[in-house]
Amino acid sequence: MTRLAICPGSFDPLTVGHVDLVERAAALFDRVVVAILVNSDKSPLFTQAERVAIVREVFASVKNVDVEAFDGLLVDYADRRGAVALVRGLRSATDTDYELSMSLMNRHLKPSVDSVFLPTAASVAHVSSRLVKEVWRLGGDVRGLVPPAVEARLRAMRAMDAPAR
Ligand code: PNS
Repeated sequence: MTRLAICPGSFDPLTVGHVDLVERAAALFDRVVVAILVNSDKSPLFTQAERVAIVREVFASVKNVDVEAFDGLLVDYADRRGAVALVRGLRSATDTDYELSMSLMNRHLKPSVDSVFLPTAASVAHVSSRLVKEVWRLGGDVRGLVPPAVEARLRAMRAMDAPAR
């Protein structure tokens, strides 16, 4: 039996913390689907299609990782995919509060899908998509906070002098 886990999120943008989490989940489960929430933010940095393309590129060499976009309730998507677990990272007590209530609600909705939490790598505990976006929009340097595939796209955006999305 294939034990499939889902790493859900907005991934706007994918950060080095996400990369660490997905790689560790891929070592624990037979298959991992990185599930990208559609329309999570009214002013996203990257479109849904761009986020899917970035995540595909970054995990292209990890054979048991797939990437998909999803809409609606996460537990319904997880159930359709036959997932046994939702994997989320924990950076702090604040994350724990938020993640615990989400996991309890998800379990209430679908008891067959459990949540697994992995403590973030200490070296990336300060990294979040929200802060990366803020730093980038204000002209800061995001090198080392995001994988090269994201960095390259951000550089291209800035070079085109695109209005900060
Ligand atoms: O990367 P994020 O924004 O922290 O991810 C949050 C995400 C996508 C895991 C969460 O918002 C989610 O599961 N959304 C789908 C809608 C849903 O199922 N909501 C009920 C959650 S208890």
